[in-house]
Amino acid sequence: MTTTHRIRVGGRNAYDIFIEPGLLSRLDTSVWPVRSRQFLLVSDDQVAPHYAERVKAQLKAAVADVDVHVFRAGESNKNLATFEQITASLAKMGARRDACIVALGGGVVGDLAGFAAACWMRGMDFVQIPTSLLAMVDSSVGGKTGIDTPAGKNLLGAFHFPRVVLIDPELLQTLPARECAAGFAEVIKYGALGNAAFFNWLEKEADALKALNPDAIARAIAACCQMKADIVERDPFERGDRALLNFGHTFGHAIESAQGFDGLNHGEAVAVGMCCAARLSEVCAGAPAADTERLIHLLKRFGLPTEVPAGLKPEDLLARMRLDKKADLNGLRFIVWEGIGRTRVAQGITDAQVLAALQAP
Ligand SMILES: NC(=O)c1ccc[n+]([C@@H]2O[C@H](COP(=O)([O-])OP(=O)(O)OC[C@H]3O[C@@H](n4cnc5c(N)ncnc54)[C@H](O)[C@@H]3O)[C@@H](O)[C@H]2O)c1
Repeated sequence: MTTTHRIRVGGRNAYDIFIEPGLLSRLDTSVWPVRSRQFLLVSDDQVAPHYAERVKAQLKAAVADVDVHVFRAGESNKNLATFEQITASLAKMGARRDACIVALGGGVVGDLAGFAAACWMRGMDFVQIPTSLLAMVDSSVGGKTGIDTPAGKNLLGAFHFPRVVLIDPELLQTLPARECAAGFAEVIKYGALGNAAFFNWLEKEADALKALNPDAIARAIAACCQMKADIVERDPFERGDRALLNFGHTFGHAIESAQGFDGLNHGEAVAVGMCCAARLSEVCAGAPAADTERLIHLLKRFGLPTEVPAGLKPEDLLARMRLDKKADLNGLRFIVWEGIGRTRVAQGITDAQVLAALQAP
């Protein structure tokens, strides 16, 4: 029997996340808490050929008015031009303020479609159907939407919460293996930052997860969404605890940027970043070296990199960290752990400590 995991993200803009293998084949739009029966389905050209027809047919059977907008996949299209094209599709279909966008895709689709929904007539409903593992465990939950500008990633954006998030782990069957591994970096991050029992479980179930066993993967996604939901509920606008979700990200962003966003992908960079953060934590937070080793071992089992790519200079990476939007007037902030599952924000870390953490022993 299929298990449905239902997670409530509370707060002022409460919504549900449903996780169920096969969910995409039985969408029951009558229970979606949206105001309209007028939909724009937004997807990219890698995802749409697999799933858009299936979603569109079910939406059409339930409502009168369904348009589809497909754009070229890839981070380089998460920009103002694609945003404008989506709004042009909304205008063409005569979208009223009570219309609804359905975002069917990875984090790029979710961020773009969510931002269009945030802006169209100052806010319309949107539904997230994430199709990449990263989107299932991270970007579709929490209400951050946005686009990149020539000046940097995610610089234009808004908090806009979906009305419902629908996750079908079976969609991962078509996700390219490298993208899947990148998603597992984020899954491991949840165990690392706040749940040692989940980290242990990941170690035990790594083979089943890699094989995309539907029940194991649904359980992992549910655990991640629950953790993100708890954190987002406590701190919707990232003024406190939500920063812990950035474990490994200060290092990771610097690596992505040093490679011109054309080397390691985001998840791979976060994997390396977490290893750097763990090494930093040994010096700054008294974390056990054995926990660093466990992290490295688990990441490797999922085929993820654990060392800073050759050719990147630690001094250059440090300079880039200073430009990170998470740096503030008090200088660089790092998320460190005292051991698996116990993270906190640390300040006052010296340049020498950061440089040492960037170099594997
Ligand atoms: N809003 C947030 O809170 C948040 C959090 C983390 C990341 N993000 C953003 O998410 C983006 C990264 O997301 P991503 O890794 O999903 O990237 P992505 O959306 O580019 O997807 C990766 C690739 O996989 C393809 N794909 C996705 N699902 C597929 C499927 N089921 N079958 C076949 N192909 C599939 C996509 O077409 C794309 O080519 C970045 O732009 C990042 O800034 C946002």
